[in-house]
Amino acid sequence: MKIIPSKRALITGFIIIFGLIQFIRIDKVNTIVPVEYGLIAIETPPKDVAELITSACYDCHSNTTKYPWYSNIAPVSWWLKKHVNNAREELNFSKWKDYNIDKRDSLKKECAEHIEKKWMPLFSYKIIHPEAQLSDEEREKMINWFKQ
Ligand code: HEC
Repeated sequence: MKIIPSKRALITGFIIIFGLIQFIRIDKVNTIVPVEYGLIAIETPPKDVAELITSACYDCHSNTTKYPWYSNIAPVSWWLKKHVNNAREELNFSKWKDYNIDKRDSLKKECAEHIEKKWMPLFSYKIIHPEAQLSDEEREKMINWFKQ
């Protein structure tokens, strides 16, 4: 005899599992890094470029991540945290001081390319953050600065 769970049992099961996974929290502590260690202090981009980089990239590529309300809800929170971890590992603007000159140059080139090809900011991020939807003019400004 095959046991087919009722719709109600399935929904109840789903709610219980959803409730339980909420206990697996993400670490939202931003380790404080002195401002002098950051890209903006070291490379001193013009103010408008600095603002664009901060608003379009820093939630993932820095230690100043602003976590939105849905970062409290699993499994979205896990997915979001994974992006932040991966992004910081590859490129952390807050820790620019730790990169040697060659690394800085290659990262800047990568940034120009990622912006030019519209790989960055990540598509899913742009949907939710209108301020990260760069206009052609804004993209141009950032690319020119990263390329120099
Ligand atoms: C929503 C998070 C998020 C935002 C916002 C974001 N990135 Fe990323 N970025 C990532 C992740 C995650 C990776 C790691 C590789 C991957 O998964 O594509 C990455 C990788 C990169 C890399 C590749 C680094 C390497 O060495 O290979 C560059 C360059 C980059 N991002 C630049 C930027 C720039 C410039 C901005 C802002 C215009 C930006 N990113 C905004 C998440 C983000």
